[in-house]
Order: sequence, then C-alpha cells, then structure tokens
Amino acid sequence: MKSKSEVRLRINELSLSVHKHSHRYHVLDDPIISDKEFDLLFSELLSLESKFPEFISENSPTQRVGSKLAEGFQKIQHEEPMLSLENAFDDKELVEFERRIKDRLLVEGELDFCCEPKIDGVAVNLLYQNGGLFKAATRGDGKVGEDILHNVKTITTLPLVLSEESLTIPELIEIRGEIYIETKDFENLNKGLREKGEKLFANPRNAAAGSLRQLDPKITSTRPLKLFVHGVGASNTKNSVLPETQFDMLKVLSNWGLPTNSENRLVSGIRGCINYFKETQERRKLFPYEIDGIVFKVDKFNLQMELGNIARAPRWAVARKFPSETGISCIKSISFQVGRVGSITPVAELEPVKVGGVVISHASLHNFDEIKRLDIRVGDEVLLKRAGDVIPQIVKVHVHKREKKVAKVQPPKVCPSCQNKLIKEEGGAILRCVAHQECPSQQVESIKHFVSRDAMNIDGLGEKIITQLVEKNLITDISDLYLLNQDQLLELEGFAQKSAFKLINSIEKSKGTSLSRFIYSLGIREVGESTALNLAVYYGTLNHFLNAREEDLLEIKDIGPIATKFICDFLNHKPSRQIISKLLSSGVKAAPSLERSNPKLSGKTIVITGSFNSFSRNKLKEELIQLGANVTTSISSKTDILLVGENPGSKAQKAENLGIQVVYEEELSRLLS
Ligand code: IVH
Repeated sequence: MKSKSEVRLRINELSLSVHKHSHRYHVLDDPIISDKEFDLLFSELLSLESKFPEFISENSPTQRVGSKLAEGFQKIQHEEPMLSLENAFDDKELVEFERRIKDRLLVEGELDFCCEPKIDGVAVNLLYQNGGLFKAATRGDGKVGEDILHNVKTITTLPLVLSEESLTIPELIEIRGEIYIETKDFENLNKGLREKGEKLFANPRNAAAGSLRQLDPKITSTRPLKLFVHGVGASNTKNSVLPETQFDMLKVLSNWGLPTNSENRLVSGIRGCINYFKETQERRKLFPYEIDGIVFKVDKFNLQMELGNIARAPRWAVARKFPSETGISCIKSISFQVGRVGSITPVAELEPVKVGGVVISHASLHNFDEIKRLDIRVGDEVLLKRAGDVIPQIVKVHVHKREKKVAKVQPPKVCPSCQNKLIKEEGGAILRCVAHQECPSQQVESIKHFVSRDAMNIDGLGEKIITQLVEKNLITDISDLYLLNQDQLLELEGFAQKSAFKLINSIEKSKGTSLSRFIYSLGIREVGESTALNLAVYYGTLNHFLNAREEDLLEIKDIGPIATKFICDFLNHKPSRQIISKLLSSGVKAAPSLERSNPKLSGKTIVITGSFNSFSRNKLKEELIQLGANVTTSISSKTDILLVGENPGSKAQKAENLGIQVVYEEELSRLLS
C-alpha cells in the first residue's frame, strides 16, 4: 500500500498525463498512446480518487462531467466587456474599413491583418486563474453573462489546466472563444433526437446553445461540443509578458493547449484580406463546421489600442459576411418519390428562390414525422436553408401566414409508381413499397445506381433514358443493359448514331469492373462503397462472396448484424441470383481483388489529403486498400505515408512536423506500380 503522499503524487502525475494525452487526441489529432492505454490511465486515476476523495482537484480530468446544477444559471460579470463586430457585406465595405483605419492612424504603408473564420456558434468567456479553468460564462449582454462552467467543463478539447511550455501564463486571464458543433455531429445528434421523438435543433448553432443551456451537465457531456479560442479579454500580466500581435497571441493560446483554428492566417493589407476571403469562401464547404463569414483584425495590439471602440464594436476589426444561405419560398405541391429500396420520400415543390447563389425549386421532407413536426401544408410560406452543397432543407413553416384552413398532408396508402400497398416502418414514419423489381420506380432507381460513377460508371445513361428504356420494356433489370443494341437505342428520343455508339461502348467497357464496384452496384441495402470494398477484400472473388455465410460476414470490418441480414437476404433471393447469373453470362467480369503484394504499401498506414487529378479520392482509396494499405483519416504517429493532392489541409504541415513520409501526385504512379 502506498503512503498518502505517494498517492497524492501519483494522482497528480495521472491527472497531468490524462490531460496531456486527451489534448493530443482531441485537439492535436495526434495521439501517442492507444485508446486502451489511455483508458488504463483514466481508470487508475478514477479508482485512486474514489479511495482518496480528499485529493480530487476541481480540475482533475475526471471532473469534466460535473454534478447537477442546483438551480438555473448564476450571473457572472465579465472582467472586460465582450464586444460585438461591425459587418461588411462586400469588398467595397472592406476597402472603406481599411481607409478609416489608415486615416485615423495616419499611416501610409500596408497594415497587417489577422484573418480568422467566423465560427457560427456560441461565444464564451473563459477565466483561467493560475492556469486553471476557474469561470466560464456566456456573452449575455456583453457585460454580464451566465455561468456555464459545469457544462463547459464537459468539452473534451478544452484544457482544464493550461500547459506552460513557452510563455508564463498570467495569474488571471480571460480567454474568448466560440463553442460549436460540427455539421456531421449535428446531423447525428438530430437523428438521435428524431428517433427518440424529441424536438430537433434547427441548426448547429442552436444545438450548441441548447446543449450549453442544459441544467444537467451529464446531458451536455453527451453532446459533441467543440471550441475554438480567438482572443483574450482582461489579463493580469504581472510577471508575464503577452505577445504584441493577435496572430502571435493565437500561437501562444495554442501552445497553452487551447484549440485554435488552423485556418487562421496573417496577411498584408486589405487586398490580402480580400484574397483570403475569396479562397475561404471556395473551401469552406470542405470545413467540418459552419462559418458565416471571416473576421479581419488589425494585427498589432498597440494599433488596436490606438483605434479603440465605437459603441459596442471595436474600430480595429470587421466581420465580412457570406451571402445568406437562407431564403423564403412557398410550397406549390407535395409529391412522393420511391427510392431504390422502396422507401417513400415526400418532396416539396417550391416557388423557385435563390438561396446562397443557387436557384432552389425542390426540398426533401425526409419522412412523415418531419411533415408532422414542422406541420407542413401545401401553400405554406417556408424558411429554407442550404449550407454549402447540402440538399436544401425546410427549417420552419410560417404558420401565422397560413390564410385559410388547409388540410394536413395525408400519407399515401399505395405506391405512387406501382399502386401496391405500402408497408409502415418505424412507427409509421417510414413508408415502404416492397414490390422490389416489380415497381417501375424501383427498377429505374436501381438501374440509375448500377450505372452511376462510383458503381459501374456507365457514361451517357441518365434518368430520362433509363425511364424510356423501362417504359418501352426494353429493359426490366440491370442485366438487360448488356443485351441492348444500337438500333434499339436509336428508336429512343434524343439518340443519334454517335451517342448510341458511345453508350454501347461504355456499357461494354464496364464489363471489366472491379469486384468492389460490382458488389456496390448491386444496390444491396446497407452496402455502401466502403462496405463493398471490405467485402471485396475479404472474399477476393465473386464466387466466394456469393457463398458468403452469416458468421463470416459478422467478422468483417464495419459490417454489423443489420448489413449482414440484408446481404444474406439478397444472396438468398432467387431473382437476385438470376440477375447476377445473367450479368456474368453477358461477360461482366468483376475482377478479383488483387493480392496484397505491393511491398511499398502492404501493411502501411496511409492518410490522403487534398484532391488528385488522376484519381477520385474513392478510387485512390480503393487502389491503396487493394494493394494492402490501411487508409485512415487522421494523421498520428502511426501514419507511415501522407498522400498530398491539390489544396491540402493542415495535415501536410502536421506530417512534416512528425517527420512522416509525404508523397505528391507526381510520385503516385511510382508508389502504386
Ligand atoms: S472577435 C472584439 N473572432 O462573432 C472582437 N469573434 O459578431 C469580438 N466570433 O461575439 C469578437 N468567430 O462570438 C471574434 N474569430 C472570431 C470569431 C468571433 C466567431 C463571434 C463571437 C462574437 C461574434 C461577433
């Protein structure tokens, strides 16, 4: 048994170690120990703390999930007010912003600006005392906010204790940042809420705000909250010197262990700002989080001081906003679409409206629960949202504008395509037509999927042509495609000799596809591209796959009981087997997966960043896996090779810091050969 002082030392040691590894994992994306090793450290700490509760520090990593708050939220006065920002809506307004500053400062030459993406989240003020997180508050009215410390402590990317590696940490310092939820996490969160029949959040910002407003931090700890810090408020700088510029301050905050945005840049003059804005506007659809603009800040703190504030916004900063991604339209009608595997999706036809620069005339209503939740009716005025490339969504119905009593939308009883009776799933939220290949819509959808780029990649066969082929009874399933001839195509609308020849050629070429593409193209429920790839690598040949057994399937990476059931159902379904036989006798090959024989790649862990001219990322991933490599998404000390394409993210820099081998597109063919 250890003495008490030994226990205390061990608790301290474990606490520091867990903080450090948690930071490497959550913020740097660069773990140096396995999850198992991390869990061991954490559970040793938990067990020692439970035996010696007198040694539990408030900032121990075990205290992230705090205790229940007794009542609402306490008010907290900020040491220094939290300001808001002036907006600029075009380049001209940015030029005017620079002019005003230069006039005031009486400078002629170029000024440096710090450029930072404006995260669409919830502002937070973090007070650290002697390096430990002491208070956390919302912005409130700018002077007084609400105490959200217990909830903020659940954010795993937030250090409870700052690490003092490069610069002395002031005794007291206010750090400002933005709490947000990544787009994918937001969608998953809403999916979970929808399944539980709870109220959904309208957008990631709302979800972050709602999660922080929870009275029970245990609930907050289940929410995927993240944080970026972007500045400091008051600080007591006795014995410590802070940097002289915003950009250097961000670096120091990052060295202290706080998450800063890797997209932040230092540029010269307002031209530099305008270029940064243009580039980021293009790239932001690749960001995992939503931003609503870019914040430009005069970099030098002494110049910021000289410029001061007007009312509640600083003269030294401006937010250049992106064009609105929301719009208002009216629902003309609601129709029901039949998907590839028979699910019925209600779709709203809208009065065309421009949202985020694109004309929108349709929005998916997902399912009938969504119609009920939003209380959507024909004729309603609705608020639409489109984020990046995401399909437009109806966020809200302006019920107060509904003129007369309009009937509720009734779910159909029979399939709009084949008139067969529909089956209710998930308590009636999802309707499904189970006529499979006897339903014309499902026939068209399966053929569309079969020929699509990531499946058999048959060029020149769009929806219109497929519909004609099905309507004219020239094809009923995917195997009939290989029996088509040029003369039959020439009878269809829109075909000429050349286009018919090209299509026949394209169909012919597709016969030499790979096994993984072939499996994917069959359209088995729950078998997406990566599952198909895993199946192809596991079974090696089509014959082995066709004889798959339930117990083997369950052993394959990422294949669970649901996908297993759908795969078995498909393989035991006689008509599906007949279609496969017909495809094979028409000459479709589905080439077996290559042996894991490339010594340069076999067993190597590879990360891909950026885009490539000679390959789609999926195709590249497929090749690498077939050659025996492991393809992962984030850089860590276990990564062997980083493949860098055009417009790479921050991974390239990270790889360089870690001394990982970097391979560019020019060298790719040598690596793959
Ligand atoms: S600086 C005095 N930097 O935008 C400077 N704000 O509209 C005030 N925001 O309340 C803020 N990202 O919540 C700054 N990189 C960033 C930001 C940012 C998001 C939010 C912040 C602020 C609001 C102002």
